[in-house]
Amino acid sequence: MTLRTLDSLGDLAGKRVFVRCDFNVPLADGSITDDGRIRAALPTLKALVEAGAKVVTSSHLGRPKGSPDPQYSLAPVAARLGELLDAPVAFAGDTVGEAAEQAVAALEPSQVVVLENLRFNAGETSKDDAERRAFAEQLAAFADVMVSDGFGVVHRKQASVYDLAQILPSAAGTLVAHEVAVLDRLLTAAEQPYTVVLGGSKVSDKLGVIDSLLPRVDKLLIGGGMAYTFLAAQGYAIGKSLVERDQIDTAKRYLDEARERGVELLLPVDSLMASAFAADAQSENAPADDLEGTSLGAEALGLDIGPATAEAFADAIRSSKTVFWNGPMGVFEFPAFAAGTKAVAQALTETDGLTVVGGGDSAAAARTLGFADDQFGHVSTGGGASLEFLEGKKLPGLEVLGWA
Ligand code: 3PG
Repeated sequence: MTLRTLDSLGDLAGKRVFVRCDFNVPLADGSITDDGRIRAALPTLKALVEAGAKVVTSSHLGRPKGSPDPQYSLAPVAARLGELLDAPVAFAGDTVGEAAEQAVAALEPSQVVVLENLRFNAGETSKDDAERRAFAEQLAAFADVMVSDGFGVVHRKQASVYDLAQILPSAAGTLVAHEVAVLDRLLTAAEQPYTVVLGGSKVSDKLGVIDSLLPRVDKLLIGGGMAYTFLAAQGYAIGKSLVERDQIDTAKRYLDEARERGVELLLPVDSLMASAFAADAQSENAPADDLEGTSLGAEALGLDIGPATAEAFADAIRSSKTVFWNGPMGVFEFPAFAAGTKAVAQALTETDGLTVVGGGDSAAAARTLGFADDQFGHVSTGGGASLEFLEGKKLPGLEVLGWA
């Protein structure tokens, strides 16, 4: 079965279309610090506006506990969306209450309203099917059809993602359709050489994706905090670097499996050791087999891959035809420890092939370090969702749209 797409919904002129987006953007002091997810929703929203639909859209933002919490209001999102669409965008101060009812009733063709945070309602995330369904029915009363375009949330069995798509005629928006097409290529039709670069702090977050991708790839590059668990598994002293002791055996198993499968598993050959977890910490580069041998001693901790590793990783990436990258190589938020992540991002931009940046931290890292989304083949808007997709899991928000 394939994903139902927008054209399956027919002529939408004058119809009320509920668009489930993922506007879960980072905020600081009430201001949006990265509007990537709002921009990613524009193609579908613009297409619906051009088709003359009455567009009702909403999202979750953060994890409020089922009741209104002003710090998670979608008001700033509605304002930014209006700027990006260059058109007035109405905002309703509730999700299914009087304000929403009035705002939806007042919509004219090609107009857009943003309803307040879906998670201000307990029914959205309820584990109780009936409670979730009841909330979805309330949302359904606002629309004739539903478009699912919040890729970042398709792994959630939630009212606006799953139940609503069952109640109304529904289809994937262009963002969801594109994400699925690209990520599916990584699973089923990746051109070789195929390289996967994983980073971030924990091995335990990446077990599913390593299990799924190891049989498919030619090279697996491991950096970031999770690399020290692998270095520890090889018997190296790692000072005070991040380590998951309970994953050391798993790391050993992956090292063995890679060898058996003929997959080249690249670990850091050097690391930037720091005197403390701080932006202004003293630092010194050290070879992987002597991380405690710097003048900083055994108290030092690794906060970035070293330059030799960055070069080896960049070479492996540039010589690939398909690259998937998820997770920073170091504490990129501290400029002194951003070089490894920057080198990996830079190498992706220089690769002649399909390059995919997995959502969440890696997408944020790339943008923070000055890279634009269009320098990569695809930047996923999904964090957990893209990883679960690549783990080969069945995602409720996709299954309900016909994806199997
Ligand atoms: C994300 O940020 O990955 C998505 O918006 C999903 O958010 P959630 O993990 O709170 O469901």
